[in-house]
Amino acid sequence: MRKFLLFAGLAVLVVNGAQAHMGATGVVLERMEAMKEIASAVKAIKGQLSSDSYSSNVVIENASIIEKHAGKSFINLFPKGSEGGPSEASSSIWQDWDGFAKISDDLQTRAIAIKDAASDQRSLKQPFTNLVKTCGACHKKFREKK
Ligand code: HEC
Repeated sequence: MRKFLLFAGLAVLVVNGAQAHMGATGVVLERMEAMKEIASAVKAIKGQLSSDSYSSNVVIENASIIEKHAGKSFINLFPKGSEGGPSEASSSIWQDWDGFAKISDDLQTRAIAIKDAASDQRSLKQPFTNLVKTCGACHKKFREKK
């Protein structure tokens, strides 16, 4: 029974995840995919923080993925009027465009800081914490969870 409930719970999660994307096309789909790539890169870096077989290459590769999707390339995926529908983008993005752009730049700068610190596993913690703070900072203001 417990196993069944666990499985049912998982299935609901998967369905919800898929629904979030239903009907997403064009830039909306693109930015969702970018965010998903960023999220899995964060996971990979996090795994390295406490890994016994630390690989600076894995850290650099994944920080580069975040760097690539952040800054200007991220905000370019938010043309005016692209909120609504399946998108979780808040209309405050366009009301405070500079604030939105600033956090996207922070995300990029902090991804670069991780690359710079990658040669030493012990020095990664602080730049990683700084990076993850930008996720919450931006989502709190500019993302409306559906
Ligand atoms: C500059 C702002 C900003 C930053 C920084 C940011 N996000 Fe997001 N994120 C958004 C917005 C806006 C959306 C909603 C996009 C949409 O639905 O159109 C989003 C959506 C997401 C999603 C859902 C994607 C999907 O499948 O629909 C994930 C996962 C995510 N972000 C993870 C992260 C993680 C992890 C970080 C930090 C490493 C991060 N984000 C940093 C703005 C940001």
